[in-house]
Amino acid sequence: MCGIVGYIGQEPAAPILLDGLSKLEYRGYDSAGIAVFDGASIRMEKTVGRLRVLQELTQNGETMPGFCGIGHTRWATHGCPSDTNAHPHMNREHTIAVVHNGIIENYAKLKAALQKKGYEFVSETDTEVLAHLLTEYYRGDPIKAIEKVLSRVEGSYALGIMFLDHPHHIYAARKDSPLIVGFSGTGKFIASDVPAILKHTRTVYYMENEEIVSLSMEHIRFYNLDGEPLEKQPVTINWDIHAAEKGGFPHFMLKEIYEQPKAIRDTISPRIQGDDVALEELGLSDEQIRSIRKINIVACGSAYHAGVTGKYVLEGLARIPVEVDLASEFRYRDPILEADTLVIVISQSGETADSLAALREAKGRGAKVLGIVNVVGSSIAREADNVLYTWAGPEISVATTKAYSCQIAALYLLALKFAKVRGQIDPSDFSQMLQDLRNLPEQVEQLLGQKEQIQFFANRFLATEHVFFIGRGIDYAISLEASLKLKEISYIHSEAYAAGELKHGTISLIENGTLVVALATQENLYPKTISNIVEVKSRGAFVMALTNEDHKEMEHTADYVLYIPKTNRFFTNSLAIVPLQLFAYYISLGRGLDVDKPRNLAKSVTVE
Ligand code: G6P
Repeated sequence: MCGIVGYIGQEPAAPILLDGLSKLEYRGYDSAGIAVFDGASIRMEKTVGRLRVLQELTQNGETMPGFCGIGHTRWATHGCPSDTNAHPHMNREHTIAVVHNGIIENYAKLKAALQKKGYEFVSETDTEVLAHLLTEYYRGDPIKAIEKVLSRVEGSYALGIMFLDHPHHIYAARKDSPLIVGFSGTGKFIASDVPAILKHTRTVYYMENEEIVSLSMEHIRFYNLDGEPLEKQPVTINWDIHAAEKGGFPHFMLKEIYEQPKAIRDTISPRIQGDDVALEELGLSDEQIRSIRKINIVACGSAYHAGVTGKYVLEGLARIPVEVDLASEFRYRDPILEADTLVIVISQSGETADSLAALREAKGRGAKVLGIVNVVGSSIAREADNVLYTWAGPEISVATTKAYSCQIAALYLLALKFAKVRGQIDPSDFSQMLQDLRNLPEQVEQLLGQKEQIQFFANRFLATEHVFFIGRGIDYAISLEASLKLKEISYIHSEAYAAGELKHGTISLIENGTLVVALATQENLYPKTISNIVEVKSRGAFVMALTNEDHKEMEHTADYVLYIPKTNRFFTNSLAIVPLQLFAYYISLGRGLDVDKPRNLAKSVTVE
């Protein structure tokens, strides 16, 4: 949801800014811009389109000399993607430049007041208000001006600011949008996320809400909103730099699909110790686990789909009632939370605005909150009472794959732990399920071997207009995610339906040749799903079924069949989703689309 980067140091700034932005494009990519102090003025270039347009325009930054600058890659909120609406935004005198990630919620009111005072606006953005408001309050001290501006704005922001009067400085601030500050021997940086500066440094400060920072060649100084200095400790990032590179794969998505065996292994292995599940990080004693009366899972997008799987698994194994909510709904529905309710917030980025707001809502109502989060040190990780980290590593492709797979693996661990502590599982079943968990990474590897077969099948359906994914129970949860994967990167209309529900209306959309992907991995529901397959087939559907390897007779019913290796019925999602991720990938590839950066989307959605 917009990426920002800033640099002050001994090297030319523009190439560093452009390179940093290229690592943040997953946050937004409809336009981009940079501003650099060139020794006399703040020069700015910005343009609609992908970052490469800006790179060409500035000859990879060579046309913009200078050692201090800020940059931005945008996901439009206020105002369509255009040259004018792209960031940075400057005041009329071109003495102040601002890049912003977030939303200034009271911008209309502020804009009207500024217009009355004679300020002229050129863009439709909320951000431009900040450039003018800074002008209004600036009396020679940037920190004081920023403090005043921030005391008047409502909403969320990560900001990078330059003042022509203080040409060798960058100023930044944050509230509810992520921002880090880094330093190396040759320069200082601000960025929305670690990959943007990983090439230069691993030493970073995580900015907290309502903090301001000033960076120069000599110093990094933090302040609170009252202008009082703050002491902060840097942390060392231990990411492998290659983790954020494509490493020979044509797309991040394919690379990340292939990283799933390792990601799942990294998430489960350290937590299976001997014949037990070790989850000290939950911060819950056995007594507390036994006293949980209800679980509320809250998340957005694919993380929500992981939550739907979690409901089936937690209820099925641990026998605890589970409600799953979309975070954007949960926060406004006046949820009933008691002291013995556990709220689980699932998020890859740990920055999703609705999930973060839901977390705060839950905490405010006295519930204990557990985060299942991938990004270490992210807002949700910091604000949750406890965190169960998924160890997927950095995920760059907008369509999530490995992070989702790790989320469901983490939920399996949780369900097994709760089931054991609450005496709901037979010890021999428990041991067998631990073994089944340990086998998952290798089985995923095995499935990746089917990639040619899936590509071949996908190529037959490149021109299809509608797809339906159907399944029951956990197969329905898999359908939700498989359908989202397909539609978000292929732009094909696709719907997930509980197989038994299709006949209550939606079956009227099935006609000759409509592709229906039928999930049938749940043994106890298999005959029922077969009946639903027959129903759609008799209305002309072409059915691709996905079932367990011992159901070869499916070939008599479906037109095309994919198989998954044997595992416990609660874990089939981890296997079934893999061919369907590949299916979505190859459809998108075959249609010539931008797999990693689908239109209109952003990976990290830090606005409501
Ligand atoms: C965006 C992404 C989805 C993701 C969702 C939740 O919409 O495109 O892939 O599932 O946000 O993100 P989170 O970081 O909270 O898991």
